[in-house]
Amino acid sequence: MSRIVEASLRLIYDSRGRPTVEATVSGEDGGEGRAGAPSGESTGATEVQAFPAGGVPEALQRFRSEIRPGLLGLTIDDQAGVDELLHRLDGTPNFSRVGGNTATAISVATALARAAEGGAPLWRSLLRPGMERMTDPAIVGNCLNGGRHAIGGPEIQEYHAVASGRPPDSIRAALEVHHQVGERLKRKYPGLALGRGDEGGWVAPLGNVEALELLAQACADVRDRLHVEVHPGLDLAASEFYREGRYVYRERSLDRDGQVAFIAELVDRFGLRYVEDPIQEGDFDGFTAVTKAVGARVLVVGDDIYTTARDRVAEGIRRHASNAVLIKVNQVGTLTDTLATVDLARSAGWKTVTSHRSGETPDGWLAHLAVAFGSAGLKCGLLGGERVAKLNELLRLASPPGT
Ligand code: PGA
Ligand code: ZN
Repeated sequence: MSRIVEASLRLIYDSRGRPTVEATVSGEDGGEGRAGAPSGESTGATEVQAFPAGGVPEALQRFRSEIRPGLLGLTIDDQAGVDELLHRLDGTPNFSRVGGNTATAISVATALARAAEGGAPLWRSLLRPGMERMTDPAIVGNCLNGGRHAIGGPEIQEYHAVASGRPPDSIRAALEVHHQVGERLKRKYPGLALGRGDEGGWVAPLGNVEALELLAQACADVRDRLHVEVHPGLDLAASEFYREGRYVYRERSLDRDGQVAFIAELVDRFGLRYVEDPIQEGDFDGFTAVTKAVGARVLVVGDDIYTTARDRVAEGIRRHASNAVLIKVNQVGTLTDTLATVDLARSAGWKTVTSHRSGETPDGWLAHLAVAFGSAGLKCGLLGGERVAKLNELLRLASPPGT
């Protein structure tokens, strides 16, 4: 039982250069944990509020006056107690006083301090019941960006290389797809200045299907060359281009039935293995229709519809709305809440995919969560120091010192 002897919260910047917070928590036996909280841009309506109305300055002030004194009375072994304290001091249903990012940073820093004192990696202390050993999450790696994560580009937000296998091979394959997509874009648009989006994927003036075509070709090439299972996947973030009852693409607009048929067509034509948020976040029935159409072949993943909230996932399970849930700690604010959602999903036979945010920090702890949760995927992007940090941490976990 190691008491928390010090806790601090500071301003840091995320990968978009926007302010966020980082917490440090120290136990009396010398363990220290430090964790930064990421930030979303295409946020779900039901996720907790990242910061109080006054932003990071108000979060820091509230930490000093209310949270730090409460934390110093607790022990680092008591994750539930720390997370409960954060909820109690906040007193709102959506962390709007304390800020979900403050809660996330403190919650994860506490877990890291505990792991440091125990001399074991974080993933071991969070390993879910029934799991005996590490599993290898597939790499869900962003190769092309659109929507709110890009200036220009398609309406579909993310085009992924989904690579399975052992981490050295899966990571290499996903990275090769990213490189290949770049080469293909250079050939397609000679002389044109191309960019990259918030999650490190390429941004180009491609149509929605054209971008997928290019990605699917790159995946097929890499698959043949490296003999690694790497296939295309999408995060449509469909709420972002849903207007007045229609899904509005630059090429055309679709009603819900049209959208379901469009997704099924893309799955068949391009061999998609992963489809996230194909339907806007308010429409459980639409999700159910997609899952009925393609769920036997594809991971149908809910992000904005669930926002990692246990109650919403329970609703999704009742309605067969998907077969997988995206897990982002700062959508709910604490590890305890996150674990409750992960355990519910696992007990229903659903897959989890543990995910970064579009605004990230250079921390590596996300890789530990993906492994501890037995996630089918680690969605952390491919390029940019803040994305590579997670991939490199997964490599470290896959081959610890002495192996
Ligand atoms: P966000 O988007 O981090 O900007 O919310 C990522 C996603 O939609 O998966
Ligand atoms: Zn998403």
